[in-house]
Amino acid sequence: MRIGVLTAGGDAPGLNAAIRGIGQMALRDGHEVIGIANGWAGLVGEMAGRNLTAADLIGVVGQGGTLLGTARYDLDRPAGGRDEVLATLTENLDALIAIGGDGTQRISQWLSERGGPVVGVPKTLDNDLPGTDYCIGFDTAISFVAESLDRLHTTAASHHRVMVVETMGRTTGWVAAMGGLAGGADLIIIPEFPLTMDEILEHLAKRRSVGSAFSIVVIAEGINLATLGGHEAGELSSEGVRGVRLATRGVGQFLASRIDEHGGFEVRTTVLGHLQRGGSPTAYDRIWATRVGAAAYDAVVAGRFGTIPVVRGNEVVLTDLETVSTGQRRVPREFYDLCAAFFEV
Ligand code: F6P
Repeated sequence: MRIGVLTAGGDAPGLNAAIRGIGQMALRDGHEVIGIANGWAGLVGEMAGRNLTAADLIGVVGQGGTLLGTARYDLDRPAGGRDEVLATLTENLDALIAIGGDGTQRISQWLSERGGPVVGVPKTLDNDLPGTDYCIGFDTAISFVAESLDRLHTTAASHHRVMVVETMGRTTGWVAAMGGLAGGADLIIIPEFPLTMDEILEHLAKRRSVGSAFSIVVIAEGINLATLGGHEAGELSSEGVRGVRLATRGVGQFLASRIDEHGGFEVRTTVLGHLQRGGSPTAYDRIWATRVGAAAYDAVVAGRFGTIPVVRGNEVVLTDLETVSTGQRRVPREFYDLCAAFFEV
């Protein structure tokens, strides 16, 4: 078989481990593996890709980024991109494995409904794909958030400051909540359970009144500024470049200035930004990316197109693409309550 592999949307640590998981299994069994360049863009018009060899996969398990390149490529602007991808795919490949988040998997599903032989692999460090407990890149992102909070604690404590830390996460709060819990955040503000400015100031004042002179406040980039008394220029969207670029709204800086104005605290802001997406994947991301990659290859060989391997508990199971491309997995109340139990001084 000629099996194409692509990575689309934002990169995430663990993509190379997944590519290796797919590639090594396929090469072992005598298939051809085509690495498609730069996501869907590599299938618009003439196919842009190259045959991957075993040598291409040596040493990549621990490397961040994606050896195939990626892009946020909009197949609907101009219209007709999806049809071009379908034509290129059916002319050149026997199967395609598309590694990506919700936008990618919606395209995979569209192709598959029209006979395109596609299998997905779940990736987004936001961890908000429905139907799976794990998405490639999330563990590395929250490990980085936790390490950053450890570092910020020492300087916050020394200077008796409030440190506001902005994390990625689009319109869900997984990165902020889980990274914040792991890093001992004193307050976590996420889109699922936004806090008012009064509640935030009250909490910081309470901490100060009992002698906790510093606080680490983690805020997710997708918070609606209106909840903090600000103004939101447009509707918040999780569509990346097609909607509002969430990070450009500066929620961390906005919150810091409001705390500074009203609370009488000395405040500093850290935006963790793309550092959360860069660097080497954790061992957890390497292992699970390998597992879902290998499972996607198995699905291709079994002819189970229109599916995606997901993680449920400690198992990899195959589900249909529609499951992961409809809706968004949001932080549940009970998990946020657990985080909040540690906000108290
Ligand atoms: O979806 C992953 C993500 O890292 C989001 O958390 C973030 O809002 C977005 O991508 C940033 O995208 P870009 O790298 O295109 O600025």
